[in-house]
Amino acid sequence: MPATGMWVEKYRPQKLSDIVNQTEIIGSLESLIKDPTDMPHLLFSGSAGVGKTTAAMCISNQILGEYAKEYTLELNASDERGIGMVREKVKKFSRFAGMADAPFKLIILDEADEMTNDAQTALRRIIEDTAQYCRFILIANNISKIIEPIQSRCAAFKFTTIPEEDVINRLAEIAKKEKLKADKKGLQAICEYSEGDMRHAINLLQATASIGDVTEEHVKASAGLTKTTDVDVVLKMALSGKITDAREKMIELIKVYGMSESDFLKYLNSAVFKSKHAKLSQILESIAKYDYRILVGANPEIQLSALLAELGSLEE
Ligand SMILES: Nc1ncnc2c1ncn2[C@@H]1O[C@H](COP(=O)(O)OP(=O)(O)O)[C@@H](O)[C@H]1O
Ligand SMILES: [Mg+2]
Repeated sequence: MPATGMWVEKYRPQKLSDIVNQTEIIGSLESLIKDPTDMPHLLFSGSAGVGKTTAAMCISNQILGEYAKEYTLELNASDERGIGMVREKVKKFSRFAGMADAPFKLIILDEADEMTNDAQTALRRIIEDTAQYCRFILIANNISKIIEPIQSRCAAFKFTTIPEEDVINRLAEIAKKEKLKADKKGLQAICEYSEGDMRHAINLLQATASIGDVTEEHVKASAGLTKTTDVDVVLKMALSGKITDAREKMIELIKVYGMSESDFLKYLNSAVFKSKHAKLSQILESIAKYDYRILVGANPEIQLSALLAELGSLEE
């Protein structure tokens, strides 16, 4: 589906005041940008799909108006090429001055917490060197991964996950504009799957609408079922010793379809129960062990691969 056909883009708020739920943050941001020349660098943190990038884009629109496109540089910091690329792009972008009608140029740096500490130290220099012409908005899922010298140079805002009621209201609004039939249970089901992630919720609404009215049944059909059957397949492959195939499929589910690692384990757990495997308790214990390791911070992809290998080595 082209990006223009996606409802997440079609219904992305254009003004801070249209952003749902993050009221305190929005209030402070609005007062910060009243006199844009005083605006500090900003640091947005919080989980996925709660409005961080949207808020950054709204600020760009509201401060820079017709110059927004020309004077805003959007970068993704987790890009493998790292800080060298960031430096080059920022340098080029900040070079031409003479901005009679705009207070500064804006650089939005997404996934800043994916940068190494060295890269962040270099970034700090870039921020200082370009301070005369540029303001930065840094976006991170996890603020604790941002080095202190950067944190202390920014006004920090922590975005919260969006409560069910707000997600439902927003979905209902969109459903109305799209002339969809949506019942309360259907919308609630979407909320359950999306866990406060508005991007996920809107995507699921659109996927459901493509198969019919938004009912609980249709939501389940478009969300859980397809994914869970795939997890069943991964389990079968692993248990029959086809570790490489199982691992490839697992990585596809996570990387391509965006299934979270914890969801993968949840689905795997219920697939095990359905399978009535002779070694049920051993399998469940393995799952619990790797679930815990991921929880305490071990690399999920490595852990899930090891789990599949362990399942493969269980004898029938
Ligand atoms: N607080 C919100 N209010 C309204 N829509 C939102 C909100 N948060 C996310 N969305 C919807 O989800 C999409 C993705 O949001 P985005 O701001 O990119 O999330 P992130 O926090 O991951 O940067 C937006 O295009 C918008 O449609
Ligand atoms: Mg974002």
